[in-house]
Amino acid sequence: MTGTLSLTPNVTIKPFLQVLSGQRQAVPPIWMMRQAGRYLPEYREVRVKAGGFLDLCFTPEFAAEVTLQPIRRFNFDAAIIFSDILVIPYALGRSVRFEVGEGPRLDPLDTPDKVATLSGAADFARLEPVYEALRRVRRELDPNIALIGFCGAPWTVATYMVAGQGTPDQAPARMMAYRHPQAFEKIIDVLVENSIQYLLGQLKAGADVLQIFDTWAGVLPPREFARWSVEPTRRIVEGVRRQTPDAKIIGFPRGAGAQLPGYVEATGVDAVSIDWAAEPSLIRERVQTRAAVQGNLDPLALIAGGTALDRAIDDVLANYAKGRLIFNLGHGIQPETPIAHVEQMVKRVRDYRG
Ligand code: CP3
Repeated sequence: MTGTLSLTPNVTIKPFLQVLSGQRQAVPPIWMMRQAGRYLPEYREVRVKAGGFLDLCFTPEFAAEVTLQPIRRFNFDAAIIFSDILVIPYALGRSVRFEVGEGPRLDPLDTPDKVATLSGAADFARLEPVYEALRRVRRELDPNIALIGFCGAPWTVATYMVAGQGTPDQAPARMMAYRHPQAFEKIIDVLVENSIQYLLGQLKAGADVLQIFDTWAGVLPPREFARWSVEPTRRIVEGVRRQTPDAKIIGFPRGAGAQLPGYVEATGVDAVSIDWAAEPSLIRERVQTRAAVQGNLDPLALIAGGTALDRAIDDVLANYAKGRLIFNLGHGIQPETPIAHVEQMVKRVRDYRG
C-alpha cells in the first residue's frame, strides 16, 4: 500500500475517489449498477407510492429515498442518484413514457423532417427535481461514500429517440446514421451540448463523480463506433472539464471489447466500466495501465449464487484487483436477484486482502 490515508482505515476519505485519482485500494470499493431497483422490496413500495416511473424520478423526496436504500442495506462505497438516461429527451420536450413491463416509449425521431423540429436546448427547469434529489442525498450520505451523477451517452440515448422504444439490435438508429448522417448528427450534437450542461448541474448539486452510460456501444462497427460513441463522449468529457477541470468521469461503452483501449485513450475518462465478456489480459495490459477499471461480475452469477457466485467473484478479483479496481457488475442487477446473494458478494469482496 502506498496511499498514506489508506493505512488508517478510520480516516480514509472516499476510497472510491482515491481509486479514480490513481490510488489502488487493498479492498476494492464496491457498488452495483441499477442498485436502486426492483430486487429491493423497499424500492417496490416507494415505486407504488410514486405512481409513474417518471414521477418517482422527479419527486426529490422519493428519488433521494430510493437512492439511499441500497446504501443502508449494503453500505456500498458509492450511491448513484436515482433517475434515468431518458430525462434528457424529456427535458428537450420529447414525449417520454414508461409502460409497466414494456420499457420506455418515445415519439420516434426517424426522419430528417422530424429531426428538423428537434429543439436544441433542454428546459433545465424540468430537471431541477434531479438536482434537488442530489442535494438531499448529499446532506444525508456518509462523507466516506461517493455520490455518482450520470447521463446516457448520445449514441445510446439516440437509439431510443430514433426508434421510440428499446430495440433488440438498435437497427433504426444504425440505419438512420447510414442513410441520413446529417440529421443523425444533429441529434447527437444536441445531446452532447445538453448532456454537458446536465452533468455540470449534477456536479454543482453535489455529485462527486459522473458516469456516462453507453449501453449500446457494442453494436457499432469500428468506424461508426469512433464517430457516434467515442467522439461524442470525448466532447462531453472535454466540455465538462473545461468548466470543472478535476471532474472525475467513468465511461461505460458496453460491448466495446477490443476497442476499449482506444476508447479510454480518446475520451480521457478516469475509469472505464467493463462488461463480463471483457478479455482480462487486454484490460490489464492496455486499459488498467491508463485508467481505473470498474466491473465486471456477470449479473446472472449473482442470481445463481452459491459456489458459482464465489468463483465468479474470485475471478474478477484475481483478474483486476492487483491494479485499480472498483468492484461492480458487468451490467445492471436484475429484478429476480436474491438479496442474500448481494450480501454474499459484498462480504466476499470486503474480505479480500490483496
Ligand atoms: O443504477 C441505478 O440504480 C440508478 C438508476 C438508473 C435507472 N436507469 C433506473 C431505472 C440508471 C443509471 C438507469 C440508466 C439507464 N436507463 C440505461 C443505461 C444503463 C443500463 O442499464 O443499460 C438505459 C438504457 C435506460 C433506459 C431504460 N430505463 C430502460 C430500457 C428501462 C426499462 C427496462 C427496465 O429495466 O425496466 C428503464 C426503466 C428503469 N430505469 C427502471 C429503473 C429502476 C425500471 C423501471 C421501474 O422500476 O418500473
